Amino acid sequence: MTQETAFLQKSPDAGDEHVPARKVFVKTYGCQMNVYDSDRMSDALSRDGYVATDVLEDADFVLLNTCHIREKAAEKVYSELGRLRELKKAKASEGREMVIGVAGCVAQAEGNEILRRAPAVDLVIGPQTYHRLPEALKRARCGERVVETDYAIEDKFEHLPAPDKAKTRARGVTAFLTVQEGCDKFCTFCVVPYTRGAEVSRPVAQILADAEKLVDGGVREITLLGQNVNAWHGTGPDGRDWGLGDLLRRLGEVDGLARLRYTTSHPRDMDESLIEAHRSMAKLMPYLHLPVQSGSDRILKAMNRRHTTAEYLALVERIRTAQPDLALSGDFIVGFPGETEEDFEDTMRLVEAVGYAQAFSFKYSSRPGTPGADLKDHVPEDVKAKRLERLQTLLVNQQRDFAADCVGREIDLLLEKPGRLPGQLVGRSPWLQPVNVDAKRSQIGDIIKVRITKAGPNSLFAEVIE
Ligand code: SAH
Ligand code: SF4
Ligand code: F3S
Repeated sequence: MTQETAFLQKSPDAGDEHVPARKVFVKTYGCQMNVYDSDRMSDALSRDGYVATDVLEDADFVLLNTCHIREKAAEKVYSELGRLRELKKAKASEGREMVIGVAGCVAQAEGNEILRRAPAVDLVIGPQTYHRLPEALKRARCGERVVETDYAIEDKFEHLPAPDKAKTRARGVTAFLTVQEGCDKFCTFCVVPYTRGAEVSRPVAQILADAEKLVDGGVREITLLGQNVNAWHGTGPDGRDWGLGDLLRRLGEVDGLARLRYTTSHPRDMDESLIEAHRSMAKLMPYLHLPVQSGSDRILKAMNRRHTTAEYLALVERIRTAQPDLALSGDFIVGFPGETEEDFEDTMRLVEAVGYAQAFSFKYSSRPGTPGADLKDHVPEDVKAKRLERLQTLLVNQQRDFAADCVGREIDLLLEKPGRLPGQLVGRSPWLQPVNVDAKRSQIGDIIKVRITKAGPNSLFAEVIE
């Protein structure tokens, strides 16, 4: 979720035969919610005749969907904008238009500041106002420098087009579906509550309708998304208050939908009903991303995570009792202000105690406007780097051990796309590892029984069980 992804939208639509269609190039940084939003924005633009291109030079509109989570992520956007400025100039000298837009969390956090720092930018649009993108783009094409960063009152999802069949088919057999946005937790290191606003849950009927459309477009696996996806709540068709567990159970009844996942979860919101879903739903994959950030109670308190390590460990125990086959994944921050060597050792001990199948770890990055930025005792960069290296070594070893333990197991594999070698497809194991297997292209979307034969550093290899 946290690695940068350059994600190009490809549209199966052909443009009008006579008027060449305008082309949009979308580049996505940050988390899966941005990936989902980029698709919704390209869908909205396609109603205005835009087609997606993966050739930057061909684009009439370049949209960067940005991430503000760490300083490096945000700075990357400005260096990209510098390069785009040159391209825009070159195109202008040939009399060709190139509108440059910035969406996502940097747009929300920095707004007008982006126009000041990056003179080539024509349009800045925050995550709450994506439904206004087509209209904002029209204004930008007329020469206005547009900034849309209010927290819109209307529901953007109601105004954005739902996933359409042809585009869904082109995007593959797995899909993201945002069910919850925003965050009210205010961890002291984090910008998300400011960039994405307050927690909002999408209504059950809207989610079901989108899920059914996705399945109609050939999707077999849906990952429900939210910054705090397990804080999702709504009113069920039965009039009861529903939590994520109820929503998953209802989605489990959608014909043709074979697998469900969800991310990212906060330990405070893992309720009994959701744990029960892991116990009883075969369609719910045994994988859980449950970030803890630190193994030191003192640091957890300073981070405002609002739970202790003992509570986290007890929770992990409960979930593993419900689903013994569960693979756990997590996020960690090293070098939060005031973190001592002993605090860091506590994090190492927690990782040893839990055993992660996968994990993401980061050096603390001080973010303007967050309470963490005002704390004293910032940890020197070289100390952070050393701690990160030690933690990552441990986590990589755990990931390798987990993969090695998979060898010999028989699993159901959802075939997703062509593999690296001809005659191979790659799919995901229930625990989200890529698995390579000999299979025909026509089998994409099938779920087949395979036996894991080998574990490589980043993927598994398997043979088909006749
Ligand atoms: N809502 C999720 C996290 C979303 S942000 C949760 O609460 O678990 C994804 C990850 O980025 C976080 O889990 C954290 O590990 C990391 N992160 C967030 N802010 C950061 C910062 N200022 N410096 C370093 N890492 C950060
Ligand atoms: Fe950020 Fe904390 Fe909210 Fe996660 S729960 S998005 S880390 S403020
Ligand atoms: Fe980044 Fe915004 Fe996602 S800050 S991690 S793109 S919510």
